Amino acid sequence: MRNFVIFSRKGVTSPDFSLNDLPGSGGRMDLVCRCVNSALWISHGIRTDTNIYIVLNGPPDPPITIVFKGDSIKRVSPDERNIASWIKKAIAFAKGKEWTKVQNGILSSKKSFQDVIRELKDNPIYVLHENGKFLDEIEIKKNPVFVLGDHIGLPKKEELFVKRFNYERISLGKTSYLASHCITIMNYEMDKRRI
Ligand SMILES: C[S@@+](CC[C@H](N)C(=O)[O-])C[C@H]1O[C@@H](n2cnc3c(N)ncnc32)[C@H](O)[C@@H]1O
Repeated sequence: MRNFVIFSRKGVTSPDFSLNDLPGSGGRMDLVCRCVNSALWISHGIRTDTNIYIVLNGPPDPPITIVFKGDSIKRVSPDERNIASWIKKAIAFAKGKEWTKVQNGILSSKKSFQDVIRELKDNPIYVLHENGKFLDEIEIKKNPVFVLGDHIGLPKKEELFVKRFNYERISLGKTSYLASHCITIMNYEMDKRRI
């Protein structure tokens, strides 16, 4: 199973954002939706071996984490607007620390980034960062968890927390790419390595 975790500093935690203004009223929800698209969709299908966790830390009631599971999602299409409409619904379903089913393959909760990492801690965790070890020199183990920051990056405090576990920093080079493009690159690389 492949797992992606995206830390969104500004992604709002109220379902009242506008589908016509994902960057502004959604707190860069456009970026989050593109990450979900890159993680799960291939041409004419879904990656059934992949989950993506989105951790929203924006106002008014952070944190909320939503997971999209490729093995079971249904009725979701790859465009940003449709993904955002499911995120709206999932935000409204996040009531406590336990996962609540929103629909097949979409769960939401009040888990924080650190709660999610604790839940995934038995897997090898790779933080994507420009100043890491170059991808070509890293052996990616089975059931990897790839952690990415948003347009500002992953807060230092959260990376320090991840360091307690089975952790490595991966770099795709010195160019700073969009988070969604990094996910596409990692999916390509794992397809190539057959992981
Ligand atoms: C647009 S970048 C944010 C860059 C931000 N300016 C910073 O200082 O972290 C969003 C995320 O994509 C990932 N990323 C972007 N370029 C990368 C690269 N060359 N290697 C590894 N990860 C990268 C990182 O996880 C980063 O937090």
